Amino acid sequence: MNERMRELAERLITERSLAGEEYQYLIENRSADAAAFLAEHAVRVRREIYGNAVFVRGLIEIGNICKNDCLYCGIRRSNRSCDRYRLTEEQILACADEGYLLGFRTVVLQGGEDAYFSDEVMCGMIRQLKSAHPDCAVTLSLGERSLESYAALREAGADRYLLRHETADREHYEHLHPPEMSFDNRMRCLNDLRALGYQVGCGFMVGAPFQTSQHLAEDLRFIESFKPDMCGIGPFVPHHDTPFKDEPPGTIELTCFLLSVIRLIYPPVLLPATTALGTIAPDGRERGILAGANVVMPNLSPVSVRKKYELYDNKLCTGDESAQCISRLEQRMNAIGYEIVTDIGDIRKGKCYE
Ligand code: 5AD
Repeated sequence: MNERMRELAERLITERSLAGEEYQYLIENRSADAAAFLAEHAVRVRREIYGNAVFVRGLIEIGNICKNDCLYCGIRRSNRSCDRYRLTEEQILACADEGYLLGFRTVVLQGGEDAYFSDEVMCGMIRQLKSAHPDCAVTLSLGERSLESYAALREAGADRYLLRHETADREHYEHLHPPEMSFDNRMRCLNDLRALGYQVGCGFMVGAPFQTSQHLAEDLRFIESFKPDMCGIGPFVPHHDTPFKDEPPGTIELTCFLLSVIRLIYPPVLLPATTALGTIAPDGRERGILAGANVVMPNLSPVSVRKKYELYDNKLCTGDESAQCISRLEQRMNAIGYEIVTDIGDIRKGKCYE
């Protein structure tokens, strides 16, 4: 590390803030020893707050029908090869029940922007989930909706909402999305969710097409000011049926570096070691945790639809990505010195199918 790198890293650790150009310098001049130094401090500050806990959330992918046409995404509306599905209310509630028995106390309902999942349908489902499992948090990840819609879902009992900002740079946003989507509406959604009392998650892809270190610096400045409850970052991975099919994927190295930086910017943030990270490297999740992440989100969707929620090529959905295999995931976390936090029934020790 040169002198300037050390000075910036130390100031990030003590002040939790740098100027945009300073983040850019940090990113452009990063090295293995800088990454190790930041990871060591990221792990230290996380340990002071969370000990060695890794939180788990059960992810139910409720449908892949989407009205949007994001250029990076495998379930974009113009992908004719995508085999579309929508789970029924009964299926969703059954997945949540199964998750409950496996020990999950947060379910995340994620899906494309599909008018079928109206406020009426979603509010009914949230109320049923909450009455079946009052001790569970319900997290939604259903894209952009109106203030009134977010308010109704919150009123019905939703606790948290995940909506990645994708990029904090307006022009970059426009390169990743079709003209009918807007950066301003994305930001409006995040602000509305916050104002309604949701715990809010934002996030972005690392190595997205057209992304520069200046854009990443803007993402970091955005995280400094927004202070999200959660921040989901994972490498961009191309999908073969999208306009970005020939773009190179993001790297595990830069993703882990940014996980450490984000942990240091906002120590209490929940940082998932994402599925995309697990997809690009077999030890991706472990490396994410060791860089400062503290959440994993195994897949609770019915096995019959899992392959259809293909946001990018080879997206993991079986093996240790599977909620049913939580005990194997737990072993992997234990092996690097971490404990999975759930209330656990014995059923967890049971079958593990892929
Ligand atoms: N590579 C990595 N992440 C992707 N996402 C969508 N498409 C891809 C891709 N090709 C992410 C987006 C979105 C989240 C649900 O998945 O950031 O917000």
